[in-house]
Amino acid sequence: MLTIIGAVLVVLVAAVWIFAFAWGFGRSERVASQFSEPAPWTMREGFLWGAATADHQIEWSQDDSWTLLEKEALAHRRFEQLSPGNAKPGHIARLGDWPAEVVRKKANFDERMEADLDLAVSMKMNAFRFSFSWARLFPREDLTEPDPAGVAFYRRLLDAMKARKLTPSATLFHFAIPAWLAREKDGKKGWERADAVAHFERFAKAAAKEFGGDVTHWCTLNEPMVYLYLGYLQGVHPPNEQRKDPAEIAPVALQLLRAHAAAYKAIKDDATRRGTKTMVGMTHHVRAFEPLRNAVPLDRITARIVSQAFVWDFPDAVASGTLKLTTGGLSETVEGLAGTQDYLGLNYYGRYYVKSDLFHPAAFQVLPHDPDAKGEEINDLGWAIYPKGFSEALVEGWRRYRLPIYVLENGTADAQDEDVARRRLLVSHAREMWHAVKHGGADVRGYFHWALTDNFEWAEGFEGRFGLVKVDYRDGFKRIPRPSAEVFGRIAGANGVDGAVAEKWGE
Ligand code: BGC
Repeated sequence: MLTIIGAVLVVLVAAVWIFAFAWGFGRSERVASQFSEPAPWTMREGFLWGAATADHQIEWSQDDSWTLLEKEALAHRRFEQLSPGNAKPGHIARLGDWPAEVVRKKANFDERMEADLDLAVSMKMNAFRFSFSWARLFPREDLTEPDPAGVAFYRRLLDAMKARKLTPSATLFHFAIPAWLAREKDGKKGWERADAVAHFERFAKAAAKEFGGDVTHWCTLNEPMVYLYLGYLQGVHPPNEQRKDPAEIAPVALQLLRAHAAAYKAIKDDATRRGTKTMVGMTHHVRAFEPLRNAVPLDRITARIVSQAFVWDFPDAVASGTLKLTTGGLSETVEGLAGTQDYLGLNYYGRYYVKSDLFHPAAFQVLPHDPDAKGEEINDLGWAIYPKGFSEALVEGWRRYRLPIYVLENGTADAQDEDVARRRLLVSHAREMWHAVKHGGADVRGYFHWALTDNFEWAEGFEGRFGLVKVDYRDGFKRIPRPSAEVFGRIAGANGVDGAVAEKWGE
């Protein structure tokens, strides 16, 4: 009898071990991909190396949805945050600590534009991503033509880029909408207003008409899922709503897709008239969503669902023409949407962990890093750095759509003057990008670092510092390049990572 029990125990223990090895109880500690080729890791000819920015984060305040929130936060002294990287609805972290001039001028790009572009050139960039402020071009609802002062501002920017041989990558909607659109009309506000799509179409047409001679790379929407998540579920971005059910974001998601389809057509029609070729698409925030506990099957399953919902539902919708919300059971076709992406834009910032709850499967948690992982590299906002997830995302994007890919953002919050973390991130991510092309077949055509300079980091206020160049807000917005600026220049200058840079900064 004892021998039988012993044998059963041995078999059980063996089974548990086999299960553990097959599935991996523990997570791999590897954060970089393995391959054998030594540097140089060079990108294709004509690859775009640039930095990314967004209007409201660097330019003087316009009358837009974020300016409204800033005014509210200042009026009610709402300057708290739950922890760095963890915003409180309605608050902007430590906004009250800054002089009114800083709040109004942000990174003061208006006065420093040319000098900033010179810095980009000094880093060997050949491209620059910016966004048109909708509120600057259409400060009033009744305008049928864009405001001349707004047009002159972006003309100045595009001329300055042309003079420096910087290829523009222009975004139309990067989180801020004009204040007049944010206000209620017929019981709806913002993107849910019945006239929102027509207004966006007017904006897109005007931008194409005024600037289509200079801009051939267009991004209609920046990270629509982030906009929905932070603005309509978490409530930390305007319009600061906390809807209970993810299905309740469907009306806004559909409006954004209609707006994209209309803008795509407007820009393409303009290019046809001019006889020029354009690339029009949108960009998506992609994180590596991974189970917090590898041995918990529900963590694994939930991580996959969250990744599909957060990263891929939107580009899938543009590819097929039908929005199928993974969380919400919606399936709705948007007229004129199918196939309206000439490229896939991806913004990559690292790894998120998904922690499920067996008794409340819908109430899972998403953590920006693993509090129990020793030695995990995290940035100033608590985000886990995970280069390997970058190549995986690029290859996954390629596998799904077979479209050219532009990395329209990648970077990290590192406020140090000696920004070692940013330098390491640049090299590790350029390495992964090469790996995704070489071994994954991804057609990656450009990399834009977020950001050129420090800027206004939304609900984090001026606390999150993402710049290759530091901005000294207390000393006339002075620009001080961080050491990473030199590393960027080395990479862009060599069109990839050369042996010396790999040796000094690689894994
Ligand atoms: C956004 C940027 C933001 C950056 C860093 C991206 O999600 O597009 O506007 O500043 O992440 O948080």
